[in-house]
Amino acid sequence: MMTHEELRRLLAEASRVFILTDENVAGFWLPELKRWLGCDDAVEMVIKPGECKKTLQTAQWIWRKLSRHGADRHAVMVNFGGGVITDLGGFTASCYQRGIRFIHVPTTLLAMVDASIGGKNGVDFNGFKNQIGTFANPLEVLINPIYLSTLPDREVLSGLAEMVKYGFIADPSMLKVDGNNYEQYLLRAGRIKQEIVDCDFTEQGCRKILNFGHTLGHAFEGWSAAKSTPLTHGESVALGMGCALWISVRRCGLSETVLRDYVPTMRRLLSLAPISFEETDVEALLPYLAHDKKNREGQTRWVLLSSVGSPVYDNVVPDDLVCQSVHEVLNLMR
Ligand SMILES: NC(=O)c1ccc[n+]([C@@H]2O[C@H](COP(=O)([O-])OP(=O)(O)OC[C@H]3O[C@@H](n4cnc5c(N)ncnc54)[C@H](O)[C@@H]3O)[C@@H](O)[C@H]2O)c1
Repeated sequence: MMTHEELRRLLAEASRVFILTDENVAGFWLPELKRWLGCDDAVEMVIKPGECKKTLQTAQWIWRKLSRHGADRHAVMVNFGGGVITDLGGFTASCYQRGIRFIHVPTTLLAMVDASIGGKNGVDFNGFKNQIGTFANPLEVLINPIYLSTLPDREVLSGLAEMVKYGFIADPSMLKVDGNNYEQYLLRAGRIKQEIVDCDFTEQGCRKILNFGHTLGHAFEGWSAAKSTPLTHGESVALGMGCALWISVRRCGLSETVLRDYVPTMRRLLSLAPISFEETDVEALLPYLAHDKKNREGQTRWVLLSSVGSPVYDNVVPDDLVCQSVHEVLNLMR
């Protein structure tokens, strides 16, 4: 890990520094970041906030900016924001001139504990999540909890969902995380992710367990965005975990108690979400599963649990069981 001085030196020696951020983060924190990094003359690239900007169009806009400002292989890009910014910034930096150096400065809880760690970068494409992307690590991830002071409550809940996920797949003590104590779990959460990624950077095997709750989670996220009532990434994952637990009880012998104990947590994680899900919507999720990146030979591969802390990956689950899990979990939410 670099010291503050080493970081400032690195940026001072770069041919040019570019900061990618969104309007919300820029409004609260951009002048402060520039001061802290000592790069007043950095080129600012400020985009509108939201998942709808994680696209190839925005990537092209960024590449044009880099090109117009003469970015060469000695330039550095600082990605300052939530997971949309770190995914998009990591992707554009790792492709530009076959890769320039980049640094992540995550500002949401979700990006601090998850999105900024592990080197997965990308954009959504054709209405489906993360279809185009790269594996490339940032030079450094700078975590400063001060940024959480301006984060809306709904976004805090979104990050908590990914922390709860670590509780299910790796460290049951993380299941105790809530809106009052999450700062004390920040480091532990980041380490869990890093340890899993270190074993399997390109997701050939054990890294897949990080996708627990994400198979249906991405479907909920894509579906809700298409309906113009977007769920956050964490809300979608919270629902996806509920479904994965329900299926795990049927397919992997998971104790029903684990699902029952999760229901109040799931309700809390979704307490600020605009869910307007009708029975008829359940089948509309299936096309999103067909585009899941974990698919093989046309079959969706699921991460399930045999017990808390014991995930099992590459499970095939029939569509009727998937639909039933969504019905059941939505009933539990009522
Ligand atoms: N690469 C990975 O491994 C990985 C892992 C998990 C999630 N993701 C991706 O991350 C994205 C979701 O990230 P997110 O939840 O951080 O969303 P986000 O980047 O859209 O940020 C959420 C909202 O919070 C605002 N915001 C950010 N920081 C703020 C601050 N400090 N104060 C006030 N407002 C602030 C943003 O402007 C935005 O409106 C999704 O695209 C998801 O696919 C990637």
